[in-house]
Order: sequence, then C-alpha cells, then structure tokens
Amino acid sequence: MPADKVREKFSQARKELSASLIERDEEIDLVLTALLAQEHVLLVGPPGCGKSLLLDSLLSWTGGKKFSILFTRFTVPEECFGPVSLTALKEDKYVRVTTGKLPEADFVFCDELFKASSAVLNTLLKILNERVFDAGDGVVRKVPLKLCVAASNEWASPDTGKELAAISDRFLFRKVVRPIMSRVGRESLLWRRRHDPVLSTTVTPDEVHAAHTAAAAVPWGKDAKQALEAILVELAKEGVRPGDRRQFKAVGAAQAYAWLNDANEVRSEHLEVLAHVLWDAPEEQPEV
Ligand SMILES: Nc1ncnc2c1ncn2[C@@H]1O[C@H](COP(=O)(O)OP(=O)(O)O)[C@@H](O)[C@H]1O
Ligand SMILES: [Mg+2]
Repeated sequence: MPADKVREKFSQARKELSASLIERDEEIDLVLTALLAQEHVLLVGPPGCGKSLLLDSLLSWTGGKKFSILFTRFTVPEECFGPVSLTALKEDKYVRVTTGKLPEADFVFCDELFKASSAVLNTLLKILNERVFDAGDGVVRKVPLKLCVAASNEWASPDTGKELAAISDRFLFRKVVRPIMSRVGRESLLWRRRHDPVLSTTVTPDEVHAAHTAAAAVPWGKDAKQALEAILVELAKEGVRPGDRRQFKAVGAAQAYAWLNDANEVRSEHLEVLAHVLWDAPEEQPEV
C-alpha cells in the first residue's frame, strides 16, 4: 500500500482514538508519532487515567505479532522471554522457547514497567536498545520488534537504581498523563457508558514500515533547523542537556510528527513534540 494511503489510515485512527479518549489528544499524537518513528514510548500517570486504554487500543490497531505483559516484582524471565526448553536441557543445552513471547513480537506493551526485576530488565534493555535477543544458545538474533509502549504510575527515581534509569532512557518519547481536567471532559467520563475506541481500520507491520520510511524522508525546513539549534542552546542555559543520542533521534521524531500532521517539511511548530524527547531526568521536563 502506498504511503499516502497509510497516512490516511493514521489520520483516521487519530480521529477515532480522539473521539473516545477524553483529553488524550497529545498522548494519541505521541504514540502515533512513536509508531512512525519506531521509537519506544512511555506514559507515566496515576492509576485509571486511560493509559492502558490508549496503549491497548494502539496495539489492537496494528497487525503483526503482539505481546503484552503486566509486570510485578515477581514476574520471572520465563513469562516474558519464554520457558527453557526441556528437550534441549536433556542434551545439556540451555535455550529458551520464545514462541508467543516478547522476543517474537512486532509490538509490545509493558505495563507497570518499573516493577520488573533486574533479571527481566537486563534482557529487556538489550531488546529495546539493540533489538537483538540471545535465547541462551549464544546466538544473538535480531528481533522483529518495531515498537514497545509502556506505562507506569511513577517515574523511576535515581535511588531506585541504575537499571531503572537505563530502561527509562530507552524510551525516546516520555510523557506525564494527567487526570481529566475540564468539566465537559468529566461529564463525558461519567455519563458516556463506553470509552473504548472503535477503530475502523488496521495497519500491518509492512504498512507501518512504509510509513516509517516516508516519514524519515520528510525534509527539514531552514527555520525549523535553526529553531532546533536554538532550543538546544536555551535548554543548556537552563542546565538541561539531553544526551547526544536523544538529540540525534529528535530529528527523526520531528519528521514523524510532521508526517502525521500531513506536512511535506518539518516546520518550527512540529518541534512541540520534542518536549517529550529532549530531557534526561523527569524534573527537567520542559513546560512547552
Ligand atoms: N481519558 C479518558 N478517556 C476515556 N476513558 C477514560 C479516560 N481515563 C479513564 N477512563 C476510563 O477509566 C478506565 C480505566 O483506565 P485505564 O486505561 O485502565 O487506566 P490506567 O491504565 O491509566 O490505570 C478506562 O477503561 C476508561 O473507561
Ligand atoms: Mg493500566
């Protein structure tokens, strides 16, 4: 399917998600941008503010293989990456059977991400970062993962350890989700009996890939380039210096957002999405 047709699907899904989810337009744009950029996205907010509803809906829209998991402190690697093969063990070989588990998924939802234990986090880090997995046989294989979406009720704090900070950094897009603010929104929440979005289309991993390629080809306008450089200088003055990897990836993030907005070049207004990209510690999050 040509990228333009896929773009219509994205815009349809955006409308349909927005029709059901109250005051979640920014989050919807963010997850669709993440899907286009193929960079992972993390939503942090209090229980019951629609995080799972949005992320589940996104995964119901995409085709391909999917894997969702709700982490607790007790989640073992087997639940995530597959059990160790018993037949292989009999031959003194240690190898995981990954059928239906995270290493075989195109799209992944990690709920309560920061509850996961070190044993899970270390392997997850490698999958998210390098998109490879070693099933135990020493062979490092590429995983099909396109996008991991995640949710949590709180940020990983520096005192919860390096691992959580590292996993948090693997998510290029990170956003706080706030409870519904407006009176109209509150009324819809209370009196509309159904909030789950009805999506009239689906997208295949191939279509997502075509869209990703098209978005990555959107040129940057001169003004937008200068604006990005100015933003980085401004942030540095405030003591916010996002890592080089984040800065580099910000370029693709803005292209994806521009493409989502039907633009044929990145303009300064598209840089608003970078508010969810260009910071390292949660307290550094820019206001706009
Ligand atoms: N912004 C919202 N728009 C529509 N429904 C919402 C919203 N926030 C919460 N809800 C309702 O509350 C339910 C619980 O939300 P959920 O997605 O499970 O929250 P979370 O994952 O953030 O804890 C949803 O299924 C929905 O019925
Ligand atoms: Mg939830």
